[in-house]
Amino acid sequence: MSKKTDRFPDGFIWGASTAAYQIEGAWNEDGKGPSVWDMFTQQKDRTWKNSDGKIACDHYHRYKEDIALMRQIGIKAYRFSISWPRIMPNGTGKVNEKGIAFYDNLINELLDNDIEPWVTIFHWDLPYDLFLRGGWLNRKSADWFANYTKILVDRFSDRVKHWITINEPQCFIQLGHKSGTHAPGLQLGMPEVLLAAHHTLLAHGRAVSVIREYSKSKKPIIGWAPACSVYCPATQSVEDLAAARQAFNGVFPDGVWNNRWWGDPVVFGCYPENGLRTFGDAVPKATASDFDIISQPIDFYGCNISHGVLVKASAMGGPEKVESGQNTNLSLYGWPQVPDCIYWGPKYISELYSLPVVITENGFTDIDQVHFDGAVHDSNRINFLIKHLLSLRKAISEGIDVRGYFHWSYCDNFEWQEGYRQRFGLVHIDYNTQKRTIKDSAFTYKGIAESNGESIKMFATDSEDELPYIVKEAVNYIERNISEQFNIKTLANKLRCHPDFLSRRFKQHYEVSLKDYIRHARIEFSRNLLRTTNIIIDDVADRSGFSDRIRYSKVFRELTGMTPGQYRKQYRETSDTSPNLISGNDTPR
Ligand code: BGC
Repeated sequence: MSKKTDRFPDGFIWGASTAAYQIEGAWNEDGKGPSVWDMFTQQKDRTWKNSDGKIACDHYHRYKEDIALMRQIGIKAYRFSISWPRIMPNGTGKVNEKGIAFYDNLINELLDNDIEPWVTIFHWDLPYDLFLRGGWLNRKSADWFANYTKILVDRFSDRVKHWITINEPQCFIQLGHKSGTHAPGLQLGMPEVLLAAHHTLLAHGRAVSVIREYSKSKKPIIGWAPACSVYCPATQSVEDLAAARQAFNGVFPDGVWNNRWWGDPVVFGCYPENGLRTFGDAVPKATASDFDIISQPIDFYGCNISHGVLVKASAMGGPEKVESGQNTNLSLYGWPQVPDCIYWGPKYISELYSLPVVITENGFTDIDQVHFDGAVHDSNRINFLIKHLLSLRKAISEGIDVRGYFHWSYCDNFEWQEGYRQRFGLVHIDYNTQKRTIKDSAFTYKGIAESNGESIKMFATDSEDELPYIVKEAVNYIERNISEQFNIKTLANKLRCHPDFLSRRFKQHYEVSLKDYIRHARIEFSRNLLRTTNIIIDDVADRSGFSDRIRYSKVFRELTGMTPGQYRKQYRETSDTSPNLISGNDTPR
């Protein structure tokens, strides 16, 4: 945990993101080869109005104007991706010097404008030739990716310090290889999907090693940017908190929308137990050395978060989705706005992986228009921005180590299968004329960034009034040490306060006494173990912080009306038939 602060830390990074295929255009200029997205969008009815990225925002020719606008709206760091087929038209072999020149110029122009370049090495536009050679299903994809990364490092690392290996693997693997709604449009079974995922992870690890070994800048800062599937508790009850955490840690059948199947190999060097159980025989054969490659140390964990799913505890204790009500604010995509997602996401990730977090994407889509006065009054985005940054500030104030925020996106752009229908930008693009118009939200963002987040304080309402520090610390301690046999006295001792004071403050802010809260938390933790593992009940008791099984069973019965054994049996019988339990389909898109 970093030190407690109610401000964004000094040096916090205020940035914006884009991706090559979504903005560059110039799809076949200056020696660029085709990517899977160039080929996919040529097929009929793959995208909204059959749109494609051939011209997109014409950023390839207008990057100077775009960088001038970024400077004008106070962006201090720009996260962009490099188009692999622009650098290597066939994916391997010959390097396209004109492609290198484009990124050289882009990086120089950014630096001349005091904007730090953050390079994403891969944002979904795989060279088409590599797809013909098996794409991510071919184990060699990790070698191809390492060689491509080496070229980027050789050419750009004298000026680029920040690297993001891969953007949202969940997305291009799930949508591109399972549901087929993204390029390359495949609909494969789980064994093949997980194989492609495994190779993607190997590619990530190889790229990290290459950057560390060859970077000309002495201390490259390396991370990756998976999609963060966030589940937010509907209330602060122990049960809902536990349900949300369980969903966050879940690995669901029939797809790769989850956090742990991706994050655990990268950080811990192994697939998570629950995932191995879920996927069974479909798990690819991997060697220990594969995991050594994948788990090369990284410097930060990127989180792409734009929405969250609200969950509560079901009657049996597992997570259950709370449907959004009539009044929920929706984006044009139909994603419910849950600003808490950007509080819980970094909190869960940093507690689990103990790495600094960077919000690599967070954004909102709407029907933005140029108004009669020539401006774009995108008040919904302003609302989104403020609410989300207040939530992020709350995470930071609780000591979560968040280093930066990148808004998605710098400008409106080609939103994959949605074509140009969705507008995510801080800058509006007229796709007929390529005229750029700064939206109102960009001016709001500028004010926030220039004050290093101080200016959003004025939007904080009383409801943001935080829990007293001591209560927060108590809750954190309980969550983290649930397997230990502490009581109120030892807890107060750890927090260096008197037990009566702690109990009183706790009761003032939660509706239950501290003693009951701890009992509930232990039982909830144990219910999760009963649901998700096969460990024997004595061990469940021990791991939930009870001195013995008899005491554990007594408290369990008091709070749930059944014994732990009965609960386990009943949960297993009902879980297959309950329609509201969280599944992988409750996550994005
Ligand atoms: C992706 C972007 C995408 C955005 C909005 C992220 O999933 O990285 O490419 O445009 O979210 O859907």
